[in-house]
Amino acid sequence: MIDVMKMFKARMYMKRNEPFLYSWHAYVGYELDLFKAFERPVTKFDVADALQLDEDLLNQWVNVGVSIGHLKEAGRDRYKTWNAWKLPKPKGNNSSGVLLKEMMELHIPTLLSYPEMMRKQERLHFDEEKHAPTVAETSRLLEVLALPKMSRRLKGKDVDTVLDIGCGEGGYIKKLAERFPNTHFTGIEISPAVTEVAKSLTRDNQNVSIENADLWKYKPVQLQGMVMMNNVIHYIDLEKRQDLFTELSSWIKEEGILSVVTPIAGDSDSTPFANVFNSFFSSFDNLYRLPTRQELAQWGKHAGLELLSLQTVIKEGGWYIVQYEKKS
Ligand SMILES: C[S@@+](CC[C@H](N)C(=O)[O-])C[C@H]1O[C@@H](n2cnc3c(N)ncnc32)[C@H](O)[C@@H]1O
Repeated sequence: MIDVMKMFKARMYMKRNEPFLYSWHAYVGYELDLFKAFERPVTKFDVADALQLDEDLLNQWVNVGVSIGHLKEAGRDRYKTWNAWKLPKPKGNNSSGVLLKEMMELHIPTLLSYPEMMRKQERLHFDEEKHAPTVAETSRLLEVLALPKMSRRLKGKDVDTVLDIGCGEGGYIKKLAERFPNTHFTGIEISPAVTEVAKSLTRDNQNVSIENADLWKYKPVQLQGMVMMNNVIHYIDLEKRQDLFTELSSWIKEEGILSVVTPIAGDSDSTPFANVFNSFFSSFDNLYRLPTRQELAQWGKHAGLELLSLQTVIKEGGWYIVQYEKKS
């Protein structure tokens, strides 16, 4: 009986892990541009030759692809990409593949270091410069959902200046700048490489300026109509979060807005994903756990900001947009 249970459990673990194959396969295809290579029917040999890849490993990747429906046999030893709508687009087109890359290269290896970190009672160090470009790109996948909630705060109001702290590639301010041509948008970003990307993507936007700056050493030259801080809180030490809100509040005009995007964890109704984010962030000595709902309310209150709304951006990820108004 016990042996049967053992086998049953082992089978269950394997079954539960099957989705990993889909992600792994899609990740490899994205990273090596293989779905593009197999766009038209082609032999494995020709792809290996053209892209200078190990033919045996490519062969294995193709076999898995056929069995999970990412590739299809096309006769005469040729294969082609199948169900392309499910697969990531090639690199560099704001592709969803960048999320696979972040998961496979950063999140999963980090979570797999848990036993060693726990035994040694040590943390990893998050290499900001190395990961900043990927992280800035994945954050952008939320833009489409969060943007309307930001626009709503600017619409019909005469907001002359907006500041985006930790602006990443500047995706939010670029889109808002196009929508609100009479408002000036400033983005500050600590990573020099990401700052360069933001500058080049907003090159044609007259009402956008991007600066390479650390938020702790920055002060805007004038009071702002709206300050945004999207997906930055987990970079901020817990002890400094209240100070940060107080500081940001002092940069905002009376009746101006503070708009913050962040996942929230720590509630009984937090999603498993929000909780595993915390497992990820806690693995590093320079990243910090997500805020709770209560903390977000409290930091605002102590900084003279009235909580206007707390709305869901992505339920599964536990992502929210929290907006405050500076009290007069
Ligand atoms: C997860 S990304 C989010 C980018 C963008 N706000 C978005 O939501 O799409 C966080 C960004 O904050 C930047 N950042 C972290 N600490 C910062 C600091 N002290 N000053 C300015 N930027 C910072 C990081 O380099 C990174 O590009």
